[in-house]
Amino acid sequence: MPGSKLQLGAGALVLGAICALPGSAAAQQKQVTFTKDVSPILQAKCQSCHEPGSIGPMSLVTYQDARPWARSIKQRVESRQMPPWHIDRSVGVQKFKNDMSLSDEQVATIAAWVDGGALEGNPADFKAKPVNKELYWQGERDGYGPPDLVISAPMQTMPAVHQDEWWRPVNEIPVTEPRWVKMVEIRPANVEGRKILHHSIAYHILSPDNTAAVNQGVGVGRFSLSGSAAASAADLVNRRPQLMEWAIGKGYDRYAEGTGKLIMPGEKISWDQHIHAAGEAVTSASQLGIWLYPKGQEPKKRSYLVGFTGLKNGTEGLDIPPNSIAYTEGFNVLKENTAITNFQPHFHLRGKAMQVEAIFPDGRTQTISYVKDFNFNWMTNYIFADDAVPVFPKGTIIKVSAYYDNTKANKSNPDPDQWVGYGDRTVDEMAHAWMNVYYLTDEEYKDYVAKHGEGVTNGVPPRNRTQQQQQ
Ligand code: HEC
Repeated sequence: MPGSKLQLGAGALVLGAICALPGSAAAQQKQVTFTKDVSPILQAKCQSCHEPGSIGPMSLVTYQDARPWARSIKQRVESRQMPPWHIDRSVGVQKFKNDMSLSDEQVATIAAWVDGGALEGNPADFKAKPVNKELYWQGERDGYGPPDLVISAPMQTMPAVHQDEWWRPVNEIPVTEPRWVKMVEIRPANVEGRKILHHSIAYHILSPDNTAAVNQGVGVGRFSLSGSAAASAADLVNRRPQLMEWAIGKGYDRYAEGTGKLIMPGEKISWDQHIHAAGEAVTSASQLGIWLYPKGQEPKKRSYLVGFTGLKNGTEGLDIPPNSIAYTEGFNVLKENTAITNFQPHFHLRGKAMQVEAIFPDGRTQTISYVKDFNFNWMTNYIFADDAVPVFPKGTIIKVSAYYDNTKANKSNPDPDQWVGYGDRTVDEMAHAWMNVYYLTDEEYKDYVAKHGEGVTNGVPPRNRTQQQQQ
């Protein structure tokens, strides 16, 4: 049984404490109960998804709601599948702006509650948190206020049974003067829409004055999937960089302090919404929320969204035989000194794990991020804390390693007997790491490294680092 070892360890520890210190706090520790100990954790970390009308399959609001799920809750929190925050905790950047994970102590409390019989405790201890039945912006929930602009794609109906579809309408961006964007979020236009919207990309149709919005700082050889090979000025207008990419389970993109994206009057959003049928007719669409920098506080730098590819041989190099585990890798060259501000692995149903490493020009390597239990339901976006944003010198190679599980052990796999290649449908596969980046001049790079260190530092400035941290 997974987890039983952990349980034994924790039990032995408590026992040890009791023997050593009779009458200590540990010995007197009261039983863990739902109303006193567990419900505050569920309210803080689970309720927004696990309340009536939200995206979770069941409510965890009251004791009556949660009790039948006790064993499953313990299993999901100990395996760190829930909350859906799957980044490896032993390597790479570990400080985030939007961390929704449980602390070790919270996991231990939930496990102790379940092991102790999942008791209710005193009902008077239960302080209900209001249930939110409306659609919400995650950014607003996380304290950033409501978006300044909302752009809604026209509503469309997906029949109960249908092939996957791509809806591609165009919307105006409603600004009358150039404005800088600080944060973006896409959500389905209504609660039902969560069932059909797999991904939604808001491409930015640029004005000729705004071609600097096109990223040219990453090279991926002749098999460019991130649209970043050198281009003529006229070509740039047609590049349509992404203002935002969203997929099931993602929240918002919040750019690092002092960086953003410029939107201008007359520009448009061109949507690419990937919809699949849900067994019932659903009418919905995508909405893009935009948070702006206040006038007079414009950022100094542009933020670019890059899909670092995991396919060095291009799309045709993705070849996953039936009933097999497969691997691909991709190498992306940073042509500028680059700060990387987030990580969001993107796969379809066979995706298993993704690791992003930096290979410095002098050959040193470092892991930036690793997700080893990728779950298709969760395109979680891991946004690095400002002081933990890693920077790399130009010439660094960003290596993306991608693992696929096309066996029946993969619970998301619709058919392990199928061969799988590259494609847009959910049953096809792809592999890239969505990362927002900004670039530093040589001068800025030197300053940044002196202050914060080079590569992944997790916010420990060079003067405070031990020899081991410096490797
Ligand atoms: C961001 C939204 C979100 C958050 C936060 C979240 N969940 Fe979930 N949870 C889901 C969704 C959606 C599913 C169903 C899909 C899946 O299994 O991944 C789920 C599935 C589960 C399941 C499995 C249910 C089953 O069918 O067996 C358990 C148990 C669970 N969550 C517990 C928790 C607990 C406990 C927390 C907080 C510590 C939590 N979740 C936080 C959205 C969320």
